Amino acid sequence: MLKRNINTIKYFTEKLFATWTTPKEECQFSLEEIAKHQSPQSCWLVTGNIVYDVTPYLQRHPGGGDIILKRAGGTDCQRDLDFHRQQTRKIWKALKIGVVKPTGK
Ligand code: HEM
Repeated sequence: MLKRNINTIKYFTEKLFATWTTPKEECQFSLEEIAKHQSPQSCWLVTGNIVYDVTPYLQRHPGGGDIILKRAGGTDCQRDLDFHRQQTRKIWKALKIGVVKPTGK
């Protein structure tokens, strides 16, 4: 009985440890998929290989929603991100949904 309990504890400890140490798999989006999201209903931005869903932020953007919509759909917005204050970049980070799927070489 005691041995069974110890084995059970060991089993769950190992499982827990694995979830702490294994990096979470990131969502990957193809360029084709990203290109579909350039409307006020669904607006995605890209910087480098990072993909953001900025739809909930469009209405609140101090620079207006249109300026963001124009950059949606896959254009690299790294320079736009750099233009913003350090504090603002945290908002970008929070809106990250995944990465661009690498194209096969
Ligand atoms: C996740 C996406 C974005 C977020 C969270 C965001 C957030 C903000 C915030 C908080 C400000 C106020 C000032 C500052 O922090 O620098 C701002 C200003 C501004 N943003 Fe963005 N922004 C985003 C995307 C963009 C994009 C893609 C552009 C593209 C051109 C852009 C252009 C501007 C401009 C021109 C201003 C200045 C507005 C003014 O002072 O009248 N933003 N943005």
